[in-house]
Amino acid sequence: MTSEREAMENLLNQAESLLHAYQQDHVVRCMKELSVEEKQKLAAQVLRVDFDQLAQAYRNRSTSSMGQGEHISPIPYFDVDTLSKEANEQYEERGLELLRDGKIGVIVVAGGQGSRLGHAGPKGTFDIGLPSHKSLFQLQAERLLQLSLRVGRIIPWYLMTSPENHEDTVQFFESHQYFGYPAEECFFLEQNTMPAMDHEGKLLLASPSELHFAPSGNGECFASLKRSGALEDMGKRGLTWLFYYNVDNALIQVADPVFIGMADLQHHPIASKVVFKERPEEKVGMVCLRNQRPAILEYTEFPEHVLNERNDRGDLAYALANSSIHMFRYDFISQHADTQIPFHVASKAIPHMNSAREIIVPEVPNAYKLERFIFDFFPLAEEMTVLRVEREKEFAPVKNKEGEDSPLTARNLLLRLYPEEGLSE
Ligand code: UD1
Repeated sequence: MTSEREAMENLLNQAESLLHAYQQDHVVRCMKELSVEEKQKLAAQVLRVDFDQLAQAYRNRSTSSMGQGEHISPIPYFDVDTLSKEANEQYEERGLELLRDGKIGVIVVAGGQGSRLGHAGPKGTFDIGLPSHKSLFQLQAERLLQLSLRVGRIIPWYLMTSPENHEDTVQFFESHQYFGYPAEECFFLEQNTMPAMDHEGKLLLASPSELHFAPSGNGECFASLKRSGALEDMGKRGLTWLFYYNVDNALIQVADPVFIGMADLQHHPIASKVVFKERPEEKVGMVCLRNQRPAILEYTEFPEHVLNERNDRGDLAYALANSSIHMFRYDFISQHADTQIPFHVASKAIPHMNSAREIIVPEVPNAYKLERFIFDFFPLAEEMTVLRVEREKEFAPVKNKEGEDSPLTARNLLLRLYPEEGLSE
């Protein structure tokens, strides 16, 4: 009994001294008013926080990711329009062989929220308004199953969720019998999170006994694969490549054999599919070389003066948009599962509890959210394979309620390519 109490006091003392050391005394004050169980809960959360990492992200919050003296240049790429028939066949054959031999896994990053769409559930459960009312997850599951049947082997599917949508996602799959996909080939993994802090660097509370933790970006993918045991699972299955894509792409050609074969035969640890930007200022990541290494710069961080730069042929010099369709070699993922890539800091409106224990739902940004971006791993590869594909065939992101990249634009693109989806079930 005594030792239990001692252990608890120890836990509280540790949490308190950390909070003092990092000027988070408002949390200590809050903790003092809690019941024993609540104190324990909050202290355990505090001990999960890497305060050094948090303080560093806060210090660097306004540092642009493009440092002084950095050099960017266009990246060489293959173009689907100029690939010879022979090369295309060779890549496809290699891709199909790898799929048949069980060397390929697929991961969908689905930890983000569908809040911009005004959809309450996980984004993958969103119905883009097809007559069949298929969700994004169903469209993806069906394509993956079709390919699995074609190669005679079920492709393992890893689904990265976040604590906010994990249960709802799993429940959605269960209640739809996994859309016919074998349940044992679906591996749901919850991604890592980071605490949010206000503009003064103070931790936000979600309730009297909870800090506000938020999913910390798709760049948590490798670390989350490792933490959840999915990386080990990939190793046991003998996978050599992981095909990566965003949950919101209604046109995703999941595990496209040509892309897989090309990635493998080019022998670089990463491959990325790109599309041409629709206009220079389109809000997409831009694929380029940065100090001669592969890189993607998010539109918010791309130096404006190069946006309209033209090459000798008069085309945009930086025309390659990140479609978030990548391939990562297994050894690259394991090598970098513990690599600390930087956090990007975004100011957001985050609901929280104030000192009077009232829940505040701000309308304007009040706090910083920390996110890691998957493509910050790219410069760790000396080279990467880039394939430019046709946007209309592969890229229909559903991001906004209306206008561009909306359910309507995705639906129209999808129906052009798959007219059979126009029939109701
Ligand atoms: C992303 C790319 C952008 C690209 C665009 C193409 C990033 C940072 N930016 O923009 O360069 O042009 O896709 O559509 O990737 N996610 C998680 N966990 C998180 C946060 C996000 O799994 O903590 C997932 C989302 O569910 C989504 C994907 O990551 O599937 C990208 O989401 P988001 O970070 O919002 O980036 P986009 O604005 O979509």
